[in-house]
Amino acid sequence: MSDILEKIKAFSSEFNTKISPYFIKPEGYEKRVMEAMEYAVSNGGKRLRPFLMSETAKLFNVSQDKVFEAAISLEMLHSYSLVHDDLPAMDNDDFRRGKPSCHKAFDEATAILAGDGLLTYAFEVLVKSSYLNDVKVKLIELLSRGAGGYDGMVAGQMLDLYAENAKDEKNPLELISRIEEMKTGRLLQYAVEAGAVIGGATQEELTALRKYARGIGKAFQIADDILDVTGDEQKVGKTLRKDDKEDKLTFVSVCGLEKAKEMAFDLIKNAKEALAPFGAKAETLKDLADFIIERDY
Ligand code: IPE
Ligand code: IPE
Ligand code: MG
Ligand code: MG
Ligand code: MG
Repeated sequence: MSDILEKIKAFSSEFNTKISPYFIKPEGYEKRVMEAMEYAVSNGGKRLRPFLMSETAKLFNVSQDKVFEAAISLEMLHSYSLVHDDLPAMDNDDFRRGKPSCHKAFDEATAILAGDGLLTYAFEVLVKSSYLNDVKVKLIELLSRGAGGYDGMVAGQMLDLYAENAKDEKNPLELISRIEEMKTGRLLQYAVEAGAVIGGATQEELTALRKYARGIGKAFQIADDILDVTGDEQKVGKTLRKDDKEDKLTFVSVCGLEKAKEMAFDLIKNAKEALAPFGAKAETLKDLADFIIERDY
């Protein structure tokens, strides 16, 4: 655990230096939205999606430097999803990444625009990136689908809101599985897919990696739901004990804490098995899978 933690921290500090020049500062009154965008991205996320992308690309001997553009684009998009997730109309959360949420540090309208700006900027960064055109187009296709409204992150967020009022749902386990796969799993899956695409993975390799990604994606959200109940707010950096209050449908609310932990453990075990074709090269990805359910932040 401490080994993987050190790797994540070293990666994230390099990542932070790479992303900061992207926040150019316009002169006029419009600079407020750019400041809000920078605030939302720069305020101390774990950078797990970029790390996951980089470690996946390493399986194909791609150097970390070649992954940063795609990783920065994804982290912008992920940060937008958090800004909007925290808005009063959504989860109404005042803290994020150990600081006031974007709409608290600025204001609600600015936070909405900052989210819009980050989502758009994510694609601009990809379009202007140095990848070959066919790689670029594939990344844009996969990211737009993973983030989108018919079976991507946005669709998952819609279901998450719907489920707050779905107390009499006939099959809550099936519904929560779909929610967590989509709202959280899809962007984690994209992180892995992007690493594979940049690395020139074969179809078979991509299939194995998608299996890994789906497992860790779901387990990641189960761990987030568990942390909401058992975590330490200082460490996690957001307001906890909220899912129950807001009537959120989670694996913990449906199955209980112990069963949720067991499910996360099984998902991680299967995810690691899917990496068998990559042998010893995949050790860090396996450690990362363990970290996802063992983490306390
Ligand atoms: C939080 O994601 C939102 C979920 C999908 C559960 P992270 O736990 O990766 O948040 P940061 O990026 O480290 O702040
Ligand atoms: C959010 O899920 C997933 C997103 C797409 C942002 P949560 O609402 O559980 O995430 P946290 O707990 O606020 O980080
Ligand atoms: Mg939410
Ligand atoms: Mg939330
Ligand atoms: Mg949560």
